[in-house]
Amino acid sequence: MAILPIIEIPDPRLRTISTPVETFDDALQRLIDDMFETMYDAPGIGLAAIQVGVAKRLLVIDLQEEEEGVKNPRVFINPEFSEPSEDENVYQEGCLSIPDQYADVVRPRSIRAKWLDRDGAAHDERIDGLLATALQHEVDHLDGIVFTDHLSRMKRDMLLKKLEKMRRQKHAA
Ligand code: NI
Repeated sequence: MAILPIIEIPDPRLRTISTPVETFDDALQRLIDDMFETMYDAPGIGLAAIQVGVAKRLLVIDLQEEEEGVKNPRVFINPEFSEPSEDENVYQEGCLSIPDQYADVVRPRSIRAKWLDRDGAAHDERIDGLLATALQHEVDHLDGIVFTDHLSRMKRDMLLKKLEKMRRQKHAA
């Protein structure tokens, strides 16, 4: 396994529309393992393939909600949503491609999701709670969307300014 470099905004690759996974080969299994290692190392609770520069509709999530240190790795390949709830949920989101910045994002509280797992088996479930938020955040990445796109212009500009300032300070240190 290997820790892969995570690309950050404003890298234009984050605006790519990723294409479906068609082959469930060894290279895909390796990529999934590397994505988990990269996400745990960061650390984060979700990572889309485009964040490591691979434009495939693949993402990994581990909310690690249970006990600290207990892993619950989930793989979503070619995910699709339908039937979003009218009921919404606000969650303070962050993103490994937008380091150390957080903001409240409003999304449907639950969605019906269809996806394939790492063996290519099909799943179809209604998902809610933090998993619904995380999954919608990661699926956005597959369509070239980042969480700051959901913010008002004023909030987005403030957040991007803070990010720039943080990068400048890091650079100067
Ligand atoms: Ni993200």
